[in-house]
Amino acid sequence: MASSKHELVEKNVGLLAALTVVAISFATLVEIVPQFFQKETTQPAKTLVPLSALAMEGRDVYIREGCHVCHTQMVRPLRAETARYGHYSVAGESVWDHPFLWGSKRTGPDLARVGGRYSDEWHRAHLHNPRDVVPESIMPSYPWLETNILDGKLTSKKLETFRNFGVPYTEAQIRNAGAEVKGHTEQDAVVAYLQQLGHAFKDRGVR
Ligand code: HEC
Repeated sequence: MASSKHELVEKNVGLLAALTVVAISFATLVEIVPQFFQKETTQPAKTLVPLSALAMEGRDVYIREGCHVCHTQMVRPLRAETARYGHYSVAGESVWDHPFLWGSKRTGPDLARVGGRYSDEWHRAHLHNPRDVVPESIMPSYPWLETNILDGKLTSKKLETFRNFGVPYTEAQIRNAGAEVKGHTEQDAVVAYLQQLGHAFKDRGVR
């Protein structure tokens, strides 16, 4: 009896396809849908602080320059990774990141925990010409970041957009954002962005 039912499914491609879709949909329902409702994946980590106006501009430069193409921001829960980078990444660190900059390829090291690892001066020298501080580096130089000056015209709008996504910026932060970044170089902004990466975990004293 059981085998003839099985035969029916195997010999009928339409039925097989339909049942396959049912099976996959069920798996999606059980494995993926609950994630949208779990606090662990939808609530910000307790120590998470929204990006400062300057770091927000730095994040945009990071995207424009394609830093995320060579660098991930995602420490996986594997011993080799936690030994090198620190505590593995958790969802609560990323809920205010739109879009996520987890990346998918590591030509350079993961940057999820790089904040505070080097001085601002180290980052400036490194961005100017990586080989000045890491002789064997294949990372490109970004000297124009030192001379590109931010005008801050869109900074308030950027913060406001993120507030629409649920990032708790105050009216005052949004109002002052442009003035805060105006006159700074893009390099200042990238360094501010890099130095806050992983702060939610460091503030918890985990690393
Ligand atoms: C072509 C690939 C590539 C691109 C693009 C790239 N990097 Fe790198 N990066 C590397 C490599 C390789 C290293 C390791 C050698 C070194 O430290 O220079 C590195 C190292 C770093 C480090 C030091 C990490 C550590 O833990 O020692 C930082 C910070 C960094 N990159 C930031 C950036 C930023 C910011 C950008 C964009 C402006 C960028 N990188 C773009 C390849 C890249």
